[in-house]
Amino acid sequence: MEESRISNETLKLPIFKFDVLHSTQTKAKELYDKEGLDLFVVWAVEQAAGRGRRERSWHSPKGGLYFSLFCRNLGNLPSPQLISLAAGVAIKDVMEKLYGIACELKWPNDILYQEKKLCGILSEVASRGQEIDHAIVGIGINANTDLLSLPEGISREAIAVKDILNREVDLEVLLATACTEVLDRISRLATREGRSKTIADYKRHCLTLNSQVIVYLDKGTVSGRAFDITSEGALMVATPKETFTLTTGDVIHLRRR
Ligand code: BTN
Repeated sequence: MEESRISNETLKLPIFKFDVLHSTQTKAKELYDKEGLDLFVVWAVEQAAGRGRRERSWHSPKGGLYFSLFCRNLGNLPSPQLISLAAGVAIKDVMEKLYGIACELKWPNDILYQEKKLCGILSEVASRGQEIDHAIVGIGINANTDLLSLPEGISREAIAVKDILNREVDLEVLLATACTEVLDRISRLATREGRSKTIADYKRHCLTLNSQVIVYLDKGTVSGRAFDITSEGALMVATPKETFTLTTGDVIHLRRR
């Protein structure tokens, strides 16, 4: 393990960098248990058992950016889902700011470019009573990833920053900018105005809204038109018979707007 050189210069938070980890999520929890820090980042050049949403794996070959941001003292948020949404908006902004890439968001937390996946976010929250004790926001970006090194079904639906720009990008700059923006967005969730602004920004760039969708739930599916996102980050879907407010699920976009 080494401490990255950007930790003291660009960012005022410790960054623990590893060549290979099973998962930065798991390591972040371990480091919290051991060191008791309130705010830090774990970065891995490769992950051997990267984790995705809904118990899936996240293939993490060298070239991608894989990190987890550990934060405590987030205050009393109305819904942990807001953390993922805020992180999604932050990464979308980073892509625009650093590379001029205009991304869109797929509910709940995929960042897409031309409908292909550029980044995935896995937020894990631990609560103490009614309050959030800490959140571990795990972010995987197809930065300099060679998409051919991913399993075929995944590479077909993915895109890498280097392929959009026709050049490799600096992972340290991307990491530092992403951490700054994600932290800024998450800290703004503490106020009602900050939450409304995040939801409004999310909705403006959300490809899922106003699309015909199928949402795969733990049990069953919902097919209908996604028409809103609530102030707590849930997706509202209208079917011919009823309206559903969904807090989790896998969305397939059928038809746009
Ligand atoms: C998803 O789209 O399913 C979420 C993918 C999240 C992947 C990141 S990579 C860094 C962090 N460590 C993990 O094991 N997963 C997240």
